[in-house]
Amino acid sequence: MTVSKLAQGLRGSEIIKIAGEINELKRQGQNIANLTIGDFDSNIYPIPAELKEGIIAAYNDNQTNYPPADGMLNLRESVSSFLKNRYDLDYTPTQILISGGSRPLIYSIFLAVVDPGDKVVFPTPSWNNNHYCDLLGAKSVMIATRPENNFMPTADEIRPHLKGAALLALCSPLNPTGTMFAKKDLEEICDLVIAENKTRAAGEKPLYLLYDQIYSQLTFGAHEHFNPVSLRPELKDYTIFVDGSSKCFAATGVRVGWGFGPANVVNNMKAIVGHMGAWAPKAEQVAMSKFLANDTYVNNYLAQLKTNIQASLNTLHEGFQQLKAESFNVDSIEPMGAIYLTVKVDYTGKTTPDGVVLNNPADINFYLIKEAKVALVPFSAFGTDDDLAWFRVSVGAITLQDIQLMIPRIKEALGKLK
Ligand SMILES: Cc1ncc(COP(=O)(O)O)c(C=O)c1O
Repeated sequence: MTVSKLAQGLRGSEIIKIAGEINELKRQGQNIANLTIGDFDSNIYPIPAELKEGIIAAYNDNQTNYPPADGMLNLRESVSSFLKNRYDLDYTPTQILISGGSRPLIYSIFLAVVDPGDKVVFPTPSWNNNHYCDLLGAKSVMIATRPENNFMPTADEIRPHLKGAALLALCSPLNPTGTMFAKKDLEEICDLVIAENKTRAAGEKPLYLLYDQIYSQLTFGAHEHFNPVSLRPELKDYTIFVDGSSKCFAATGVRVGWGFGPANVVNNMKAIVGHMGAWAPKAEQVAMSKFLANDTYVNNYLAQLKTNIQASLNTLHEGFQQLKAESFNVDSIEPMGAIYLTVKVDYTGKTTPDGVVLNNPADINFYLIKEAKVALVPFSAFGTDDDLAWFRVSVGAITLQDIQLMIPRIKEALGKLK
């Protein structure tokens, strides 16, 4: 045994396996539409010009030493105003933690409120909660959601699992589905958290709610983003938010995230992130602070990004609905937010022209990669059962034209299955 038990127990990412397959085909000169990564192609979706100029200016100004471990005060002030303006949420700069993207926030929330063996409740499909549980030695309580609820969890599904749990982890708009909580559904879940905490004795660790709203500025049409604290102010003591710039400003490589919540938890997260050294680069913090404070820059950028992402998602959704109307065994759920579309490609048990039987959604995906030059991610990569024939389609790294060209290739490939 050459490494720790924890290291041995960690599960590799299914997405990375798919990426390996795509890279191999690309090496052979094939052009694959890569819809697998929850990222942007920065030549299609560059970061805001003012943010980029601000970062360069900050480096020219030698802003290159250690930032404060909890984030630069100017940035925490800008985030505080941003939360007030955009969500009517009141958080002072001391209740805000800046980190190197949003992942360190999630990890530090888990470390701050979950002990080994504690129950962590989360829906599937969802992003990475299972891996954070593995890192902590926590007990994952996974709630399988259903397509008829847009793969969002309901209060009825969550209710039986909250007794004694340390953390409920929710996300909206959700990675991988691109769907969102309706107001009433989130209110009902909030009420469960309040009720559970009423049963806990004074001094006992409460049930905390991790609310990941990193995609909340990327919502489409009439779909409105809701958060637990605005709906139920008494949840302010128990809700820790994960948020940041990675997705809404297509700034995944810039690495500026912000979390906020009750001071006692956030202070512990600050100490944890500080020990990990997982703070955001100083020049990026300086630039982000100025960018966030300028409503015109932010609004103009979001308007453009949302228009383009929505056009891509709608085109794909309409394409899948058209295939469904033509009796292909596919489906898709209306895009609501984020950069993802949820699609069903239910061809398990079918046979390829080469006589190979597709045994599961992973086989279907590899068939589509080879035959249609299109790569998706099966929901099993997000914690669901292996046989669920639903997939995440991510549109951040592909042009609208490429999406339009892709639909006929999918149709042709599926048409060859017997
Ligand atoms: C729901 C969700 N939360 C958090 C993150 C982490 O973002 P970051 O790149 O800022 O670490 C991601 C990234 O894919 C995500 O999808």
